[in-house]
Amino acid sequence: MSLFRLTVFLFLFLDTVLGKQKAAVVNGKTSLISFMSCIISDPQNALESWNTPGVHVCDWSGVRCNNASDMIIELDLSGRSLGGTISPALANISSLQILDLSGNFLVGHIPKELGYLVHLGELSLSGNFLEGHIPSEFGLLHNLYYLDLRNNHLEGEIPPSLFCNGTSLSYVDLSNNSLAGQIPLNNECIYKELRYLLLWSNKLIGQVPLALSNSTKLKWLDLGLNTLSGELPSKIVHNWPRLQFLYLSHNNFASHDGNTNLQPFFASLVNLSCLQELEVAGNYLGGKLPHNVGDLPSSLKELHLEKNLISGSIPPFIANLFNLTFLKLSDNLLNGSIPPSLSHMNRLERLYLSNNSLSGEIPSTVGAIQHLGLLDLSGNKLSGPIPDSFANLSQLRRLLLYDNQISGTIPPSLGKCVNLEILDLSHNKLSGLIPAEVAALNSLKLYLNLSNNNLHGYLPLELGKMDMVLAIDVSRNNLSGSIPPQLGSCTALEYLNLSGNSFEGHLPYSLGQLVYIRALDVSSNQLSGEIPESLKLSSALKELNFSFNKFSGNVSNNGAFSNLAIDSFLGNSGLCGPFKGMQRCHKKRSYRLVFLLIPVLLFGTPLICMFLRYSMVTMSKVTRRFSIVSSGNFGHVEEGTEELKYPRISYSQLREATGGFSSSSLLGSGRFGQVYKGVLQDNTRVAVKVLDTKAGEISSSFRRECQILKKIRHRNLIRIVTICCRPEFNALVFPLMPNGSLERHLYPSQRLNVVELVRICSDVAEGMSYLHHYSPLKVVHCDLKPSNILLDEDMTALVTDFGISRLLHSDENTSTSNSASFSSTHGLLCGSVGYIAPGMYVLRELRSTLFYTMVFIYFGLWNTFFN
Ligand SMILES: *[C@@H]1O[C@H](CO)[C@@H](O)[C@H](O)[C@H]1NC(C)=O
Ligand SMILES: *[C@@H]1O[C@H](CO)[C@@H](O)[C@H](O)[C@H]1NC(C)=O
Ligand SMILES: *[C@@H]1O[C@H](CO)[C@@H](O)[C@H](O)[C@H]1NC(C)=O
Ligand SMILES: *[C@@H]1O[C@H](CO)[C@@H](O)[C@H](O)[C@H]1NC(C)=O
Ligand SMILES: *[C@@H]1O[C@H](CO)[C@@H](O)[C@H](O)[C@H]1NC(C)=O
Ligand SMILES: *[C@@H]1O[C@H](CO)[C@@H](O)[C@H](O)[C@H]1NC(C)=O
Ligand SMILES: *[C@@H]1O[C@H](CO)[C@@H](O)[C@H](O)[C@H]1NC(C)=O
Ligand SMILES: *[C@@H]1O[C@H](CO)[C@@H](O)[C@H](O)[C@H]1NC(C)=O
Ligand SMILES: *[C@@H]1O[C@H](CO)[C@@H](O)[C@H](O)[C@H]1NC(C)=O
Ligand SMILES: *[C@@H]1O[C@H](CO)[C@@H](O)[C@H](O)[C@H]1NC(C)=O
Ligand SMILES: *[C@@H]1O[C@H](CO)[C@@H](O)[C@H](O)[C@H]1NC(C)=O
Repeated sequence: MSLFRLTVFLFLFLDTVLGKQKAAVVNGKTSLISFMSCIISDPQNALESWNTPGVHVCDWSGVRCNNASDMIIELDLSGRSLGGTISPALANISSLQILDLSGNFLVGHIPKELGYLVHLGELSLSGNFLEGHIPSEFGLLHNLYYLDLRNNHLEGEIPPSLFCNGTSLSYVDLSNNSLAGQIPLNNECIYKELRYLLLWSNKLIGQVPLALSNSTKLKWLDLGLNTLSGELPSKIVHNWPRLQFLYLSHNNFASHDGNTNLQPFFASLVNLSCLQELEVAGNYLGGKLPHNVGDLPSSLKELHLEKNLISGSIPPFIANLFNLTFLKLSDNLLNGSIPPSLSHMNRLERLYLSNNSLSGEIPSTVGAIQHLGLLDLSGNKLSGPIPDSFANLSQLRRLLLYDNQISGTIPPSLGKCVNLEILDLSHNKLSGLIPAEVAALNSLKLYLNLSNNNLHGYLPLELGKMDMVLAIDVSRNNLSGSIPPQLGSCTALEYLNLSGNSFEGHLPYSLGQLVYIRALDVSSNQLSGEIPESLKLSSALKELNFSFNKFSGNVSNNGAFSNLAIDSFLGNSGLCGPFKGMQRCHKKRSYRLVFLLIPVLLFGTPLICMFLRYSMVTMSKVTRRFSIVSSGNFGHVEEGTEELKYPRISYSQLREATGGFSSSSLLGSGRFGQVYKGVLQDNTRVAVKVLDTKAGEISSSFRRECQILKKIRHRNLIRIVTICCRPEFNALVFPLMPNGSLERHLYPSQRLNVVELVRICSDVAEGMSYLHHYSPLKVVHCDLKPSNILLDEDMTALVTDFGISRLLHSDENTSTSNSASFSSTHGLLCGSVGYIAPGMYVLRELRSTLFYTMVFIYFGLWNTFFN
């Protein structure tokens, strides 16, 4: 009997419990289906399982149930790109503890019914397009500790009940909405659990509520970007011993004593031993930077005080903040000099002191802040030189010193800041040359701005190494000489301003071949000749200014020039063309073509025939296979098996010969190093190729070059005078070729005649065929281009620079210890980047076309006969 009763009781009990659970789940399911019916777009099929028959609610994606009782406790559909509105039916899932719908495209209002989810602990609706008010019913959510409504379009006031009733609230983020009114914290309520209060980017007004002083657990307070006003909250902050981040920037706060005294605010922070970041920028704060700024907690890593009205000098005591990594005092009224003690903050990574009235010299101690990555001292009244000690700032990425009165020369030691991305020294009083070391800073990724100074001398050829830089501005200086075609190697360049200098000569054709160049300003110089065709063909060029030069010739208004007007060409009396306001051209083009063609037809054809015959003779000689006589007078070929005797030339002799490797004796620079001209004591004129010794690649290339050059002697291959090999210094000495490289002769000003070109191409072919077939080491040059073809006094061509050559077969008799580096065949496709560009350029000219055609015919025949 009692057993029966017990059983019945048990059944009744179970039925009740299970029935309730069933109801809860069914209820939850209905509510979820109502929720789904309000979702109008689900591009990721996030709710697919919700539509699949037989899948239990607790297994629907985003749904989580309590294991024991099958009640829905969590709905997490964050970041699923759901579009639609939030159904009030969710309020019926009364067991819900976590609701996360953040990062979707939900619109409409937040349903007030969500306030009935009494078990809700976490609510996140951030990153949607929700509008309207925050429902005051949220005040009923007594268990809510995490509320995130940031990045929506919510407006109206924050309901006071939210904080007052929600005594568990610990994390509140209402940032980036349009909430208005005051921060609704009043003295009747206690906000003891509040740890994170993030209200930035709203339209809040009023003061920081005094009631917050009882929130002693506060860690983060971000009230930035509002319209809050009143004195800085010094009476409150000292009650937050755990405070880590205090952001009050971009409001209307004032300092104490009628916006004249910052001392009390800094004093109130001194005991906050966890404070890491303090931001009070953009508040029109007045007063001096007080001495006690140095008393701020040493835990401080970032201090932002920019865009205020802070005056006086920077107290040297600020250097006590030795853990600071970020100090921004820009846009204030600071005067006096920069305290040398700043260097004590040796963790500093970014230092902004721009747009103040700082004067005096830049202390050289700044060079001791070894982690400094950004230094912005622009827009002050700083004078004196750029300290040499900046060379020690090996981490420096951005150096902004523009708009000062800095004088002296640009220290070459800046070239040691090998991580520099931006160098802006514009609008100063710098004089002297642009150091080659600085021009060679190929780390520059963004821009080089040296404009508006008193710099003079040539534009260093090393600028061509800046292959990542987006903009170069050297305008308004006293620079002279020609514009180096090497600028065409600055492959990423978008903006180039050379205006307001005394540059002369032609505009290099290579500039138009810069793929990304958008703006080119060469106005107000002494440039002459025609405007290169390449510029017109450039697809990226939008802005061009050629005004006030001595350009001549015909300009057409098509291609990149089609959007230009006369203002781009003003003050060039020699220019003619179809632009409104420009003089028309006389038609003489067709005559010129005839004049060009007649000599080609008259002399060219016989020359080609002569040339081909000449080649045949060569070949027939060569057909006497391997009988290539060491003393044969054709080609002066000598077998170089015996070690050649080199005159010994010491490093100091080379140094003397080149004037200490001065930039004035620099002939050019390539991938592996610089070439200097020099005169030895016995008056021999030499070219010294100094190799960069940094990379391992260089030293192997050096060995390679030595090996090859030692063994090869041919009339049309450059001969080595000597080598100089020290651990830190590797150089090759060649005879100086008085006529420079072929590249120089291809510019329109230095045209070669057809006879010369035919000779040159025959010479080159001779040299190359020797390299390919008869040299003691079989060598593919891989980098044959006009700049690697040198011309001696009687215009005989000599091929140079085997630096990247690869060996086809290693000969048995060359099994030296170095042969490993030769047999590497990873460079089957080889050549230098510069190859294509000059090639295309050369092909443009009729005579150059002839040149290449002949080389190809020659090689073509050669290969047909011998392979
Ligand atoms: C539910 O059970 C799973 C494993 O069966 C476990 O990982 C999970 O933590 C449990 N959840 C709750 C809320 O107990
Ligand atoms: C929520 O539940 C109540 C009763 O439990 C019901 O009347 C109401 O229709 C439900 N709402 C939705 C949207 O399902
Ligand atoms: C605050 O909570 C009490 C119950 O604790 C409730 O009666 C009152 O309506 C709530 N106030 C608001 C504004 O939600
Ligand atoms: C602010 O919210 C908008 C959407 O309302 C968003 O696009 C923007 O990225 C947010 N801003 C920040 C800084 O998070
Ligand atoms: C802080 O809380 C105490 C009670 O614990 C209360 O007397 C005092 O008024 C509160 N202070 C503020 C500023 O709200
Ligand atoms: C900081 O702490 C010291 C020592 O505990 C105390 O004398 C001083 O009043 C405190 N300052 C503030 C602003 O709380
Ligand atoms: C300074 O920073 C270092 C590294 O972040 C930290 O270990 C140290 O505790 C900090 N010093 C103080 C006084 O907070
Ligand atoms: C420099 O600071 C002054 C005063 O704070 C401000 O008016 C001006 O706009 C600032 N200039 C720049 C370039 O930021
Ligand atoms: C800095 O400016 C204040 C006025 O704000 C002036 O009294 C003081 O002489 C100035 N100091 C220097 C070094 O220019
Ligand atoms: C660079 O630092 C080294 C040691 O850290 C120091 O000896 C040298 O004087 C510094 N150079 C300059 C120019 O300050
Ligand atoms: C210097 O030139 C760069 C690139 O054109 C430009 O972005 C920068 O604003 C210039 N600096 C000044 C101070 O004008």
